Amino acid sequence: MKTSNQNIKPITTKINSNGNIEIGGCDLVELANKYGTPLYVFDEATIRSVIKSYKDAFKDFPKVNMMYAAKAFMTRAICKIMQEEAFGLDLCSGGEIYTAKSAGFDMSKTLFNGNNKSYDELCFALECGIGTISADNFFELALLNDIAKSNRQNIRILLRITPGIECHTHEYIQTGHLDSKFGFDLTQINAAVELIKDEYKNLNLVGLHAHTGSQIFEKQVYSDEIGVIFKEIRRIKDKYGIDLHEVNLGGGLGIKYTEADKPISIYEMAQTVTEALEKYSKKYDIETPVIFIEPGRSIIGTSGVTLYTAGSSKQVPNGRLYQALDGGMSDNARPSLYGAKYTVEIANNPNGVCDKKVTLAGKHCESGDILAKDIILPEIEEGDTVCFYDTGAYGYSMSSNYNRLLKPAAVLVNNGKSDIIINRQTYEQLTESDVIPDRLN
Ligand code: LLP
Repeated sequence: MKTSNQNIKPITTKINSNGNIEIGGCDLVELANKYGTPLYVFDEATIRSVIKSYKDAFKDFPKVNMMYAAKAFMTRAICKIMQEEAFGLDLCSGGEIYTAKSAGFDMSKTLFNGNNKSYDELCFALECGIGTISADNFFELALLNDIAKSNRQNIRILLRITPGIECHTHEYIQTGHLDSKFGFDLTQINAAVELIKDEYKNLNLVGLHAHTGSQIFEKQVYSDEIGVIFKEIRRIKDKYGIDLHEVNLGGGLGIKYTEADKPISIYEMAQTVTEALEKYSKKYDIETPVIFIEPGRSIIGTSGVTLYTAGSSKQVPNGRLYQALDGGMSDNARPSLYGAKYTVEIANNPNGVCDKKVTLAGKHCESGDILAKDIILPEIEEGDTVCFYDTGAYGYSMSSNYNRLLKPAAVLVNNGKSDIIINRQTYEQLTESDVIPDRLN
């Protein structure tokens, strides 16, 4: 069965009686007029449908638990949805922990991840009642041990390991291959386990954690990952007599940005995972551990679109046609950072004849600020509402104030209703952290 990560558009997308694109029962042109652009629009029905697919896909395997990787897109409203859906949260900074806590999230269902968590962040995480910490390196183990000792506390940890698996995604978003800044290399696991066993006695090692990469299309990656982790669990049991009963497989399932992308469905991924769990439990003669997965992009990516208003344009003589939009690399860094490609439509002219090659440029003072290069669209007119699909993941979360552009607003749409979930930044907010020293006044 097809799942929403295999669609380019949110499931509620249609052309309405005004001849405009609508999502969640809301006319995109009206949303652009009401809230201004750039605007991130999130379709609640698509988010819930992906979540339902994850739950259905693993329902015969009750040992699999889901955590949403908040780095893909996090606001307090999203935390509320995840809580309602009984998902946990994978968090990777003090800021993400604060956001979850301040949304009233059940912190026992959270995991703290990251390759350079600071002493203060770790203390804050524990104060907030974080469920588990994925310890990434020796430095962190020592910090955790100090904190555990001074708080007279036991800390539940996983060891983040580098499984040594290559997945064919962009180099910057691969994480599980051997030359990676994340996690313990397989050859360092023994030393870490020995430290915990012999010296860091307040650290309660419950399992292993790995994440092979993001925007993954291949099933084999999950199966190979489980093979590597289960082999380590067997080895640790034999060598140290320690039973590890939790395994976090990370996130990574891909989504369809353009017709060229062919991600597997959530059901295919689940089948691969459950088959591999059975196969390797038998092979290594271990009881199947409690499994966690932490998808980010595949939960939120397809639900989100970005709306822009078309402004100036430039036809280079005998060259490209540039159409400028009112946002750019500050609201979507992915094209300039990874060469990411998107599907684009004109929300007020979805049926126009696509016969113009155009390059959609941002408004930043930099030539590399291109959102979509040489794509074919209907002729764009000034004031048109331009819709980029699949910007829900790593769009807002990687946004910046480059050139002092304001961070856009985000709305959640459902059944014809739109609600602000992030206000557009104001000039006052933009400058509120600036300090002018007295001597300059
Ligand atoms: N778990 C861990 C430990 C991770 O590092 C990540 C993503 C995830 C889960 C969620 O992965 P997902 O399901 O979203 O693929 N900025 C890049 C993506 C970076 C992903 C970083 N880690 C992009 O825009 O493509």
